This record gives sequence, C-alpha cells and structure tokens, in this order.
Amino acid sequence: MANENENAQETARKKIILSGIQPTGTFTLGNYLGAVRNWRQIQNEYQCYYFIADLHSMTIHIDPAKRRQQTREAFALLLACGIDTEKSLVFVQSHVHAHAEMGWIMDCCSQFGELSRMTQFKDKSAKHPDNINAGLFTYPSLMAGDILLYQADYVPVGADQTQHLEFTRDIATRFNHTYGETFRLPEGYFPKAGARVMSLQDPTSKMSKSDTNPKATIYILDDEETILRKFKSAVTDSEAEVVYREGKDGVNNLMTIYSAITGESLDDIARDFAGKGYGDFKEAVGHAVADELQPIRDHYAELMNDRQYLEAQMRDGAERASRIANKTLNKAKKKVGLLLPQ
Ligand code: AMP
Ligand code: TRP
Repeated sequence: MANENENAQETARKKIILSGIQPTGTFTLGNYLGAVRNWRQIQNEYQCYYFIADLHSMTIHIDPAKRRQQTREAFALLLACGIDTEKSLVFVQSHVHAHAEMGWIMDCCSQFGELSRMTQFKDKSAKHPDNINAGLFTYPSLMAGDILLYQADYVPVGADQTQHLEFTRDIATRFNHTYGETFRLPEGYFPKAGARVMSLQDPTSKMSKSDTNPKATIYILDDEETILRKFKSAVTDSEAEVVYREGKDGVNNLMTIYSAITGESLDDIARDFAGKGYGDFKEAVGHAVADELQPIRDHYAELMNDRQYLEAQMRDGAERASRIANKTLNKAKKKVGLLLPQ
C-alpha cells in the first residue's frame, strides 16, 4: 500500500528541469531561440530551476567588476525573457553555499582519468594554456553537484555539455552503489522546437557569443536598427530564391529564424516570398526578430533600473534554492560519514 502511494505521488509530481547558464556576456538570438525561450515555455509543465553559473565562470579569467556586472545582467535577462519567479526558481549559483560543498564531495568521487578525458577540458586548456587551473579540470564535478543537489529529472544542455551530463550520471550511479540510493539519475532534455541558429556571416558555423565579427551575431539587446542592419548584410547566395534547400545555408538559416519566431512552416514562408528578392525577405526577418525582442529589451531596462527589486529576487531565489539543496547535501554528507553539527 505504502508503495502504491509512493508511486502515485511520484506520478503526480511535476518533473524537475534544471539548467545553468554562465554569466559570460549578453545572450545571442541563438541562446534565445535554442534555449531560453524554451525554458520560458516549459515553466507550467515542469518544476524549473534556472541559475547563473558564476562559480563555473571562474575557471576563465574575467575582470571581477565585469563578472559582477555580467552576473546581474544575466539574472535580469532571464527574468526579461519571461522566466517567471512565481513559477520557477531562479538564482545565482554562488548564493547557494551547497553548490561549493557538494562540488567538493563530487571532486572526491571523480577520477583523474575520467576528468582528463573531458573534451571541454582539453579544448579550454588548449585555448588558455597560461591558465589551466584545477577548477577547469574539476568543472564537471561541480556541474554534477549542481544537478544532483536538486534531484533533477531532466537537464536541457547543448551538444557541448552532453559529456558532462553523462559524467554526472556516472558519478551518481557510483555514489548510489557505494553509499546507498541518494541521487536521482538525470536525463538530457532535448526539446523538439529548439532552433539551431547559425552565424549571419558564416552560416555553416553556430551563432556564438564569442564571434569576433560583430555582424555575425544578433544579441537579444540589440536595437531595431542594429538588427535590421545585421540582417541586411547577412550572407546568402546568388539565386534570389527563398526556399529551404541543401547548399543554401544562409537562406536556410534566415528561414529557420523566421519560422521559429512566426510559427510559419518553411513551405509557407517559401510560398509567401515566392518571386520576391532577398532584400524583402531579410527585412521581414529583421522586423520579426526586432518585434520579438522589443519587449525583452524594455523589460530588461526596467529591471536594471530597479536594483532593489532585482536583489530581492536574487535573495528570494537563493533562500528557496538553499532549502532544497541543503536537504540533498545533508543526505549526501551523512552517507559519506561526515558528522552533521547537532
Ligand atoms: P552557451 O552560450 O554556449 O553557453 O549556450 C547556452 C545554451 O544556448 C545552450 O543550451 C546552447 O545549446 C544554446 N545555444 C547557444 N548558441 C546557440 C545557437 N547558435 N543556436 C541554438 N542554440 C544555441
Ligand atoms: N556548464 C554549463 C555551460 O557552460 C553551465 C552549467 C553549469 C550547467 N552547471 C550546470 C548546465 C548544470 C546545466 C546543468 O553551458
């Protein structure tokens, strides 16, 4: 009977989704259409926890004042994008002490060999040979702690983070095996609707925050004029035909963006723009994107002007997150034989 009850409770429980984003600069249209917009859309269906991964950002050197500013901005951006603190839990990672503590427990469960095999570690240490710090090496252990602390069911992650999620499952399995059932095993969450947005200047590579060509990337705080200008200079081809076809990477990208925003199918878009030049189409895409981003920009400006409100939201998020995280942390501490203060 007790078991049946537990099963019923388990079925009624909203599944938990957790994700973190590093405070390393304004989001791009790619972040928005590929991730954050979807985070907003799933808030009713799932219990969502979203946090700004400021501890993870320490693995790369950033000027402290800039880190502080970017953390505030990233937090405000999540809210501006429609993440609702009444429905979801939004917080800054370092405000919840359990992350650092759990990170240490996870460090002690991680093997040198497996951490050495992480492609992100290899990539980032090649990119920053002058700062191969221990945090960069144990980054996946900290991330595993983030996820396991909240007993997350699903973690939406991009392709670059799937190895870390696998690693999280490995650690959790090992821990549960050694110390008894403690952590839920998280799964990847891959939304159907997540669009992959490519660079406007090189449509064979992903639109990215770190692109050195400013015309390649739309930032979600770009104003209308900037957005229209960037779309106007987007790379296409010489066919002057708005149709989604292999080899037309530039046009395919514009159509993907337009479709993601308007909800129109690729066929409908091709029909609507048949016989029209790329100039018209680029303008339509630019306007659609600018209209979508306008309310976000306005809301963001309001939030950044109301520091007290923003700080109150951060405090509230941290308190609520700490209560949940501390439960799991204490459970894990007991399991490994750390004495809890009485
Ligand atoms: P990053 O900015 O690389 O830390 O990515 C944060 C999230 O945004 C991840 O879930 C990525 O999959 C997503 N993302 C980043 N760039 C793009 C893009 N160009 N298209 C679609 N999704 C993206
Ligand atoms: N490592 C992730 C990234 O760089 C950010 C992150 C930290 C994260 N902890 C997480 C994502 C936990 C999902 C779950 O994108």
